[in-house]
Amino acid sequence: ATVVEMIHTATLVHDDVLDMATMRRHCETVNERWDTESSILLGDFLFTRAFHLASTLESTWACRLIGETTSQLCEGEIRQKGNQGDFGLSESDYLQINDAKTASLCSCACRLGMPEKGDQHKLADRMASFGRYLGQSFQIVDDLLDVTGHESIAGKSLGTDLQHQKATLPLIHLWSQLSHKEQQLLEKMLRGPAPERLAHLLPMLRRHGSIEYARQRAIGLAEKASDCLQGLPQNEATEMLQLLPEFVVHRVR
Ligand code: FPP
Ligand code: MG
Repeated sequence: ATVVEMIHTATLVHDDVLDMATMRRHCETVNERWDTESSILLGDFLFTRAFHLASTLESTWACRLIGETTSQLCEGEIRQKGNQGDFGLSESDYLQINDAKTASLCSCACRLGMPEKGDQHKLADRMASFGRYLGQSFQIVDDLLDVTGHESIAGKSLGTDLQHQKATLPLIHLWSQLSHKEQQLLEKMLRGPAPERLAHLLPMLRRHGSIEYARQRAIGLAEKASDCLQGLPQNEATEMLQLLPEFVVHRVR
């Protein structure tokens, strides 16, 4: 758990550099308080420290799984970077990026709670799927909050997807609802001055049902996560897991 949490934190420290974010968890980001160089070095430190810690485990399994997962995560970020400015990104490409950059680590964390081998391998697979669906749902809600949330509640910089011209699910849905001419007008607006972007975009997203569409996709994935928990013994730990899908779709931070 410590290794995964340190890796998660390292990815966010680096992510805040890429997104030029100034706030995270209600505090100044490392890049805002210090600078880019310090953020890169701190992220690297957390990342290498986490791998060192993982390597002290008797089995190499956790280290291997975390290594595979972090390379998927980086691939997701690289793909996202490569698609910047492509507002016609397909929903399936978006979902693959979402899966790689976020759901992979969530799935890994849930899988690591089970033994590597043994007679509970079916349950172990289900836990990995639980984490995957939960992470996919989480990232869609994250992308919704980026356009509908409030920074003072979320405690992090919002609007960074639009600022960096990343197509996320609400925008992808809106794009699919527009005529070619309307798409051209939207693109001009999205490439235009920052203050007007969200003010124009939000009513359009609401009018075309794009916010609701993305929310329903997130709810559907959260329900799939819940289904993975069917038949688990009732105890304090499983009760916590059962609360997570609900929490993910209703969160405002
Ligand atoms: C949050 O995305 C960021 C991620 C899910 C992954 C970031 C990964 C990297 C920058 C590369 C890997 C780095 C290391 C150290 C291996 P977001 O911007 O959509 O979410 P946010 O709203 O919380 O910023
Ligand atoms: Mg970010």
